[in-house]
This record gives sequence, structure tokens and C-alpha cells, in this order.
Amino acid sequence: MRGKGLSTFLFPLAVLSLLRRSHGDLSYAVPEEMKRGSVVGNVAADLGLDPKRFSERKARLNVDGGGRRFLDIDYSSGKMTVAEVVDREELCASRTSCVLKYSLVLEKPLELHAVTVQIEDVNDNAPQFSTDVIKLEIRESAVKGTVFLLGEAHDADVGQNTVQGYSLEKNGHFSLRIGTNADGGKYSELVLDKELDREQEKYMNLLLTATDGGRPQRSGSVEINITVLDANDNVPVFSQSTYRVSLPENSAVGTSVVTVSARDADEGVNGEVTYEFSRLSDKAARIFSLDKVSGEIKLIGNIDYETESLYELRIQAKDGLGLASNAKVVVEVIDVNDNEPVIVIQSISNPVPENTDSATEVGIINVQDKDAGGNQPIRCTIQGNVPFTLNPSIKNFYSIVTTGPLDREQVADYNITITATDEGMPPLSSSKVIHLSVSDVNDNPPVFDEQSYSAYIAENNKAGTSICSVTARDPDWRQNGTVLYSLLPSEVNSVPVSSFLSINADTGVIHAVRSFDYEQFRSLKVQVVSRDNGSPPLSSNATVSVFITDENDNSPQILYPAPEGKSLMTEMVPKAALSGSLVSKVIAVDADSGQNAWLSYRIVKSTDPGLFSMGVHSGEIRVQRDISESDSMKQNLVISVRDNGQPPLSATCSVYLLISDNLAEVPELKDMTYEEKSSKLTSYLIIALVSVSTFFLTFIILILAVRFCRRRKPRLLFDGAVAIPSAYLPPNYAEVEGAGTLRSSYNYDAYLTTGSHTSDFKFIRSYNDSTLPAGGTLRKSPDDPFGSSFNEAHGEEVRETLFI
Ligand SMILES: *[C@@H]1O[C@H](CO)[C@@H](O)[C@H](O)[C@H]1NC(C)=O
Ligand SMILES: *[C@@H]1O[C@H](CO)[C@@H](O)[C@H](O)[C@H]1NC(C)=O
Ligand SMILES: *[C@@H]1O[C@H](CO)[C@@H](O)[C@H](O)[C@H]1NC(C)=O
Repeated sequence: MRGKGLSTFLFPLAVLSLLRRSHGDLSYAVPEEMKRGSVVGNVAADLGLDPKRFSERKARLNVDGGGRRFLDIDYSSGKMTVAEVVDREELCASRTSCVLKYSLVLEKPLELHAVTVQIEDVNDNAPQFSTDVIKLEIRESAVKGTVFLLGEAHDADVGQNTVQGYSLEKNGHFSLRIGTNADGGKYSELVLDKELDREQEKYMNLLLTATDGGRPQRSGSVEINITVLDANDNVPVFSQSTYRVSLPENSAVGTSVVTVSARDADEGVNGEVTYEFSRLSDKAARIFSLDKVSGEIKLIGNIDYETESLYELRIQAKDGLGLASNAKVVVEVIDVNDNEPVIVIQSISNPVPENTDSATEVGIINVQDKDAGGNQPIRCTIQGNVPFTLNPSIKNFYSIVTTGPLDREQVADYNITITATDEGMPPLSSSKVIHLSVSDVNDNPPVFDEQSYSAYIAENNKAGTSICSVTARDPDWRQNGTVLYSLLPSEVNSVPVSSFLSINADTGVIHAVRSFDYEQFRSLKVQVVSRDNGSPPLSSNATVSVFITDENDNSPQILYPAPEGKSLMTEMVPKAALSGSLVSKVIAVDADSGQNAWLSYRIVKSTDPGLFSMGVHSGEIRVQRDISESDSMKQNLVISVRDNGQPPLSATCSVYLLISDNLAEVPELKDMTYEEKSSKLTSYLIIALVSVSTFFLTFIILILAVRFCRRRKPRLLFDGAVAIPSAYLPPNYAEVEGAGTLRSSYNYDAYLTTGSHTSDFKFIRSYNDSTLPAGGTLRKSPDDPFGSSFNEAHGEEVRETLFI
């Protein structure tokens, strides 16, 4: 356009100069870009001059207006040639007429000729766009038919050699429209034929080519760079409509659950997606957080399968301008074995009686596990060696049953440890201890330490002396194991055993009720019963043998010779008796036994010591030396018999010996008959005395009987003093009798246990119905013939020592 304006301006000047110098002026036309030396025209010839004259006239070519010459005249030949290659575009730019003007001066005569050389265009330039790339930004929302100006390509050439047309690379959206400027220049416009979609095609490159009309034709092209601009025409789209995730419970806070992502095809703010929960329960809100930008869902709280096993989160994705879409996240909580089984005791019978049968149900437990699936099944066992087992009952219920007999005396209580283990990985277990007591049943009788006891007591004991104690043990509990002792009623030689012994019901100590006399009886056998306090009671018995030991309480008794006074025994000793011959024998006995009855004989006094000797243990009297005539006829020996007791007791007797061969020689024979008579008299006297005594006794008994009947009340027969028949009984013939050869008198008040728990003894003065003892230890009946023996007011010392 610039070139066009310039050429329009210069054109009239050229016409004017051509007109003014019209006569004799020269005009040539020559294409641009001619090589040096190319002949433009023959100036001399055209002027009609001889080339010789031409140089003679000093022809000169002056460039009008100064400037570059380009052409010159070969003066010798008169031809105008190219001195310098002419570029029309450089010289004249876009002017359509490009003329070089010269003045040809000739001298002699001076002549001035105007020479104009028209430079003609050659198509030596291609159309050219002003930029390499045309950048266009087109919003995708642009409607069909919208026109975009592309501008004009330039071609330095002129005329037909300038831009004549445009062409556009084939494409799906645009077409080309060509327009013409007021100055004739051609320009192009891009017309939108089909709407753009940035999301499909964001950039487009089209090639626009401009062509000129020269020959050969030249062209130039430019790239059109179309950027499709975004319009918010897309909603964000989630990659999945529902996200399903599984998450183990107890996952740590901060664990990433899932990252949702929504894409918005739009660009920039239109495609900036933010996420938020669209609807969220309070509970879920405490557990899940959603990153607004990244779409990552994280845990901010604890997830617990047992509380909630499934969460549904609704998430909205929104782009910058508010287009939104929704998706759902389903979080499935996976159970983890985090709950140990719980054992619940439903019922328990405590205590369990020890006589409970095997396989009896004593309790019911229930086990629960909050976990699910494979973590839930529970195995339940009883630990340790206890006679209980678990029997599975209805689902998750077990009954505790006994597996064997219980014995409180062995094991009084059990700690039953129940362990429940689930089948999770790793398994969890819990245990519970059930304390079960075994209650007592009276199933054990008292058992004596020994089945038979032996006790020794020296005779002449005091009444109430304890002899021995028996112990029976009963392992049962409290009253079922409380042992009471008693004597089994029995009779010893038809006397109730209770007359001799009593037992403390609580302690089992056996006491002598009375003083014992070894010479009467030497042993007692009694059955002791121990009985517990159960209901019904159980009992057992043991035998107690009481052995009475001897004391040296009897002096030796001389049987022969007869005691003094009763008879006068005289042994005859033949005068011719030799030394060592047996003269007589003293026979003595001792009611005691053992050492106490081991007798030794000694001569204490003799008429003629040395004449007779005494066998220490045999009691034999022997002649020690031959008897001579000088020896006195009457010999008297006093013999002492002594037992071996501690202290020893002794008796003495006299032995009369008559040394004579003839009974008639005996001067004292008369005395002896007298003695016999008097002895007979003594017998009569005794008989009389016995008769009177018997009568007297009968009388007293009668009186007592009368009194007894009058009272009409059971009364003990023997309340008073009764003399003891003092019959002599030799040892080994001792009988249990109501009387004996007791050394001294005792108050026979009996020491009796009462069987009460509080006091040991009671001192009973006499037996009557108001003081009958409890517990059956002592039993009195009115017909008890020996009751009196307990209550003798006095007794005589019955010691018989015999002297002659
Ligand atoms: C049972 O447990 C209690 C307390 O844990 C304990 O005192 C008692 O001795 C236990 N009994 C048995 C029989 O183990
Ligand atoms: C004693 O045994 C009986 C059953 O023989 C029982 O009923 C009672 O409870 C027991 N007494 C105690 C104190 O255990
Ligand atoms: C004493 O016990 C035995 C068994 O220990 C029994 O056979 C006997 O009958 C019992 N005697 C009495 C008198 O109870």
C-alpha cells in the first residue's frame, strides 16, 4: 500500500518530463535485473547520428537529479548498456512505473536530449506474510460463521506479479474468504464453518498460502496457529460413580481410605475441581476427612467394626464456576479380631454339696464375642485338673458339670478357670475364675487314732484320776465333724462299766470313777464310741483296755503254820535227825503279784541259833547240824516272811519244834489238847457271832426295806454305811466284787463327767434320781447291787497280820 501510494505520487512527474522534452527525446524500456553490459538501445542510431560524430560531439550522459547511474552509453558505438544491475523493487519499490531519467548532452552544437528508461518488473519476488505464524485464540463457544481476519500477504513485485490469491489447508472447521482492498490488494479471512470443542481439539495448525500472478508463479505461506479457548461447558466427572473400599477396623488415624478423582474437561478455573462431602452423618464426620483439592479421604477417627461396619459417603465435585457432580464412596469395615470373648456366668450353684453325683450341672455360662465371621467362633475349656467340664449347650451356652465325685475333705473349694478362645488370627482369649465351694455332708465317721488303746493305772488310784485319752478324728465340717465320746454301756462281771470308768465327752479323757484294786481285777475292757454331731450322726468305736498294775499293798500271808491262837502246831523232830534233813516248811502267800509277791523267808529269832536253817525262798526249815543230846527239846523259831515290794511288807510266825522220838515224851501234850478244846470253843464262838451278825443284818435290811416302800419313791438302796465282808481271797482268785482288800479307806464319792461342754467334773455326793448323770456314762438302776460301793462312808483297813 505504501508502494502504491508512492507510485501514484511519482507518476505525473514522469509524464510531465516526457512531454516537455518530446522532440528528440529518447525512451527505452528494459526489464530489471539485466546483466551488466546488456544493451538497452542504440542511442546514436536513435538520434540519427553517426557513432563517430557521437563521440566527437562529446556526448555525455548525465543522471537527472544525481543518484546512481545504472546505465551508461558506450560512446564509441553509441549504445546504451547496463552498467549496474537494476532491482526495480529496490529502485522504485511498489511504484508501478519505474523510470530512470538521463540527459544526453552533445556539444558542437550543444544539444540536450532527455533519455528515459522504463524499468520493467520481473516476477522475482514471492508473496510474503509479515509474520511467520499467525496466532489466533478462538473461544470454543464461538458460533458458526464468525470471521477472523488473517491479513494480507505482500509481494514486492507489482502488477500481476503481486498477490493474486490465497488458499487454506483443508480442515474440518474453517473456510477461507478472500477480499480485496480499496487499493486492489487481496486479503483473506477465516470463516468458522463448524463449532470448535476445546476438549476435543485444543490447538489447530492450518497452512495459509498466498500466490501471485507472475510467471512462473510464486507463493508464500504462513502457519495459522489456532488456540481453542475454553468455555465452562463440562461438569466434573468422577472416575467411578461408586468407590468401594474395604478397610480393616482400627486402622490408624491418618490412613488414606481412598482418593476420589473427578476430571473436568474444561480449562483453568472452569476445570478446577474441588471436592466436598455432600451429605455426611455426624458419626461419619468424626471419622472421615476429605481433602478439598486432592480428593483424598483420610481417617481422622477410629473405625470400629463393632460400632459400624459400613459407611456410605456422598461426595460432590465442583468446578470453579459451580458445575457439580456426585459420587458415592462405600467404605466397608473389615472385622479385625480385636474383641476378646466375654464369659458371662449365667448361674452357678455355690456351694455344691460334696455328695453331688457325677455329671451334675452346677452352673451355666454364656460366651460372647463381638467380632464377626471367623473371629467369632469360640472354644471354651476349663483349665487345670478340676473335676468339672463344660458341656456345650445351646449356641454359646455351656453348662458346667461335675466329672467325678467331690470330696470336701480332700478339696474344699475349687477355682474353676474357664478360658474362652476365639478363632481369629491371632486368636484372643479371656478367662474367668469361678470360685466354687464344696459344702459338707456328714460322710465321714469319726475315726479313732487307734483301734484299741491300752492304758495302765496303778491300783489304789484316786477316784477321778485320768487314765488315758482317746482321740477320734472326723474330717467333716463343723458339727458334722464335732466328735463326742461316750462309753458303750456294758458290764464287767455284771457291774456296769460306768461304775469304773467315765469319759469326758469332749476331750476323750478317760477317768477312773473309783479306786481300783489289782487284787480284785487286773484289767477292764471297754468300748469307747465316738459320735459326730451330724444328722444322722456317724459313729465308730474302739476298745480301751485298762490294765491295773500292782502295788505292794498286801503283806505276805502265812498259811502254814496256822496263825497263832487258832491252833498250836508243833513239829516233831526225830532226835536222830541228821544235818540237812527237812524239818518243816513255812507256807506263805502274797496277794500281790510279781516282786510284790516274791517272798523270802528268814529266821528272826530261834531258841538255838545255828541248829536250824531256813530256805530263803523255799520256806523249808532244815536241821543245820546233827542234833545232839544236849540240845533243848523244845525249840522255838520266829520266822519272818517278807515280800520284795517297795517298800517291802512282812509277816512273822512262830514255829514250835519238839526234838523227840516219842510223842509220849512230850510234857506239853496236855496243853496241846487243852489247846484243841479251846480251839473248838473258839469255833463255837465264831459260829455264834456269825449267827448274831446275820440276824442283825437281816433286821437292818428289813427296816430299810420298810422305809423304802413307805417313801414310794425310787431310792437307792444303799445310802448308809455298810460293813464290808472281809473275806480273805487268795491272789489269782480275785473277783470283781463290791469290796476288796483295800489298804485304806476312801471316800467313794464318784467323780463323774457330766458330758457337758462347760465343765469337766461334777462332785456327786450321793446317787439319787435328781443327780443322775447325763450322757450315759454312768447308769444307775435301783437294782444295782454295787451302787453302795460308790458311797461307802468308811472302810476298815483290813490287814491281817498273824502272830503266834
Ligand atoms: C482360689 O483363688 C483365691 C483367690 O484368688 C485363693 O485365695 C484361693 O487360695 C484359691 N483356691 C484354690 C483352691 O486354689
Ligand atoms: C452336715 O451334713 C449335712 C448332711 O449330712 C448337711 O446338710 C449340713 O449342712 C452339714 N453341716 C455343715 C455345717 O456343713
Ligand atoms: C464297733 O465297730 C465295729 C466296726 O468298726 C462294728 O462291727 C461293731 O458292731 C461296733 N460295735 C458296737 C458295739 O457298736
